[in-house]
Amino acid sequence: MRIGIDFGTSYSAAAAIIDGELKLVRFGEARQFRTAVFFPEVVPNVEDFVLTPVLEAQVESIIRASRADERAAGLSPRPEVQLHREAVRIVRRQWMEEQTRAASASVASFQDALFGEDAVDAYLEEGTGNLIESPKSMFGYKLDPRVRKTIVSIAAHILEHIRLTATQQFGVPVREAVIGRPVEFRSSMGPAGGDQALGILREAADIAGFDGVSFLEEPAAAAMAYHMQLQERQRAIIVDIGGGTTDVAYAELGGGLEPQVHRSWGLPRGGTDLDVGISLYSFMPHFGKDTSGVPVHHFVEAASVHNLPKQREFRKQDYRQVDEPFGSRLRALQSTGATTRLNQSAERVKIELSAGPRACAALDFIEADLAVEATDADFKVASEDFLDRMQRLLEQTRSDLPEAPGSIFLTGGTSRSPQVQERVRMSFPGIDVVHGDPSLGVVSGLARAAIS
Ligand SMILES: Nc1ncnc2c1ncn2[C@@H]1O[C@H](COP(=O)(O)OP(=O)(O)OP(=O)(O)O)[C@@H](O)[C@H]1O
Ligand SMILES: [Mg+2]
Repeated sequence: MRIGIDFGTSYSAAAAIIDGELKLVRFGEARQFRTAVFFPEVVPNVEDFVLTPVLEAQVESIIRASRADERAAGLSPRPEVQLHREAVRIVRRQWMEEQTRAASASVASFQDALFGEDAVDAYLEEGTGNLIESPKSMFGYKLDPRVRKTIVSIAAHILEHIRLTATQQFGVPVREAVIGRPVEFRSSMGPAGGDQALGILREAADIAGFDGVSFLEEPAAAAMAYHMQLQERQRAIIVDIGGGTTDVAYAELGGGLEPQVHRSWGLPRGGTDLDVGISLYSFMPHFGKDTSGVPVHHFVEAASVHNLPKQREFRKQDYRQVDEPFGSRLRALQSTGATTRLNQSAERVKIELSAGPRACAALDFIEADLAVEATDADFKVASEDFLDRMQRLLEQTRSDLPEAPGSIFLTGGTSRSPQVQERVRMSFPGIDVVHGDPSLGVVSGLARAAIS
């Protein structure tokens, strides 16, 4: 059986058309799950250490070297037991270091992986282990081979989770999928990043047990969903504003004819950039941004929770010399899970500001009684960069079109924001905006594409 999979930056979903009806795969009770995986750290246990013949030989060679050093320095020989004990200690330490390296590179611990909100909760509760959120954001980045392997494994686990859940619910083996892809992946390598991203997804799907996968641009998938609603043939613009990317398609739809997608446009920016924007504008000044002398890029690294190398950079910094209260707050932000919590708060503030004029977030996990307040005026400044880019993309779209579209179909989680909706309307004055289901527009189109 073939299903449609929306492997989203923030949320993933899957669906199929069965007997002409759209069936969404349920993850627990939910129709989508947070694209996050948690896997516990495999901590090597020193009690597992045994002197194998190879390690025994290393001990002997350390003892021989110590004896040679003694002779060269003219020292009297130390007792054999003492040298043996020291040599075993060195070999055991090297063994532990090797085990630790191997554990962090291995995928064995993926067996205990958790997905979605459960993954985030486990990470925050346990305070150890690894949380990977929004792995899709990294598919197009320059990755060293070891990190690439890890990213492939993570994507494979997510796809396997989807495949097995769907197989169980539909009662038939799911072996094929149409997977959504953005028009332009987030990339640090230009178009080569997009090729790498598709390579990672293909490899991951193979490991996850899919015999075949194909890809469909996400706005083209959303167009299929809109197509089903239209009685009359019309030329429409589809706008999907998600967590990582903003995607646009121009298509002829409805009227009982085949849908025809003519063109697409992409911007590798989305709702997660708004979270980073709010974090930098409203949260980071409480950590000394612009006042403590700490370079601004440190705050960008701390706010970029989806970028593992940047997070690692931030965790490595030494803030012992930074003036109080900022030094202590930055150190608290370096502890496990703190940047994830901060980002969750920033996302919540963003969502609250899409419904009301002010929002507040408690940062007790940093310092007792520390809180952040933000207003719609703050949101306006924090979101300006993203909104301007999005508006330029839509204006480009409009100027590329041969004629005004019949309507704009809007989907994607970020399209829930009234500020975003207003910019879409401003970009296409006088054109009807039709609101699709913000979460399920893409996956339902992918399910339709999966029938043929
Ligand atoms: N009310 C709201 N106001 C603003 N943003 C919102 C709101 N509700 C959800 N979001 C944002 O929507 C985004 C998720 O949207 P969606 O599920 O469409 O993304 P995705 O499909 O996972 O990502 P992509 O398609 O870019 O890979 C998140 O950034 C989330 O914070
Ligand atoms: Mg999406």
